[in-house]
Amino acid sequence: QRLELELDSIEKGGYEHFMLKEIFEQPRSILDSMRGRLELGGSHLNMAGFRAYEQKFVNAQRIIIVACGTSWHAGLVAEYLIEDLARVPVEVEYASEFRYRNPVISERDIVIAISQSGETADTLAALELAKSKGATIFGICNVVGSSIARATDAGAYTHAGPEIGVASTKAFTAQVTVLTLLAMCIGQRRGTLSDTKLRELVAELHNIPSKVEKALKLDAEIREIAETFKDVPNFLYLGRGYNFPVALEGALKLKEISYIHAEGYPAAEMKHGPIALIDENMPVVVIATKDSSYEKVVSNIQEVKARKGRIIAVVTEGDTTIPAMAEYVIEVPHTSEILMPLVSVVPLQLLSYHIAVLRGCNVDQPRNLAKSVTVE
Ligand code: G6P
Repeated sequence: QRLELELDSIEKGGYEHFMLKEIFEQPRSILDSMRGRLELGGSHLNMAGFRAYEQKFVNAQRIIIVACGTSWHAGLVAEYLIEDLARVPVEVEYASEFRYRNPVISERDIVIAISQSGETADTLAALELAKSKGATIFGICNVVGSSIARATDAGAYTHAGPEIGVASTKAFTAQVTVLTLLAMCIGQRRGTLSDTKLRELVAELHNIPSKVEKALKLDAEIREIAETFKDVPNFLYLGRGYNFPVALEGALKLKEISYIHAEGYPAAEMKHGPIALIDENMPVVVIATKDSSYEKVVSNIQEVKARKGRIIAVVTEGDTTIPAMAEYVIEVPHTSEILMPLVSVVPLQLLSYHIAVLRGCNVDQPRNLAKSVTVE
């Protein structure tokens, strides 16, 4: 029995749970997902899977992303990235809806499937359907040789390493990293991304692992916030732009492992419904980093405050406006707007982890959930 316990602890690298270990591995897994694909200081991108289908990407009339769960959230980030950097229209679809909808697909469409396991039944079926209609199929998987990886024409692996915790963490940031590189490749080839902008992004991508490392130092602070909110029945998560998918992902993490009901919303949509739920008992996590929608998010925070909602704000280091309005402030390092999800998601992962642990939940194997859903 002692040996078993010791083996268990070695597997978890000294961490109490796989999920925590995987959250802390992110500086490394992000770096591994970029390694060999980026050249420091330069503008040369090297993605073998992209190169083989370069012309298809250049001529694509549309990119359709299919995925489920957390991978679908990475797909939403990619919609912002690809439209922004490469100017190709992107649609992000739940694989389960797409496959049964009689979707319009043509030979000039590229379908990107995102899947950590590479085994999700709905994602695989969506892909097969698109393939049968002649679309080019690109895969972003973590598990090498998985069914989705084998079914695709080309792809790029995320190098996150094995993810054991059912709630996905390092796979998400690895997916966003690879999708960022892909968007940059497409933008470069289509001539929509200037060399200066590309070099800037390459340089900033190299800073991301250390910025994630810094965000991880917030652990103890976030645990205290978790103490305050561990017994509430509901949570609301708000974000705009690149941080909107992060709000969805933060809410999903909390639901999955703590069983607290949580909703993620684009901050401006709050007035069309969720605002009715806000009172002095409602914690509202707002991702309000310094970016192009910052001022608008500040007004959203004021609206929450006017209704006595309890604000937990994720802000950029040095922000002096929001701390005066929020009950709790979590400061993350500044980065380029389009790379912010890689940093801003980290405190939300930690928040859900600590709340779940304090509630005595089985963090690595939450009830009713499976790591990979191979049935419909
Ligand atoms: C399950 C897992 C999630 C995951 C989703 C998609 O629901 O519990 O963590 O995001 O499947 O999985 P995939 O392997 O396709 O990324």
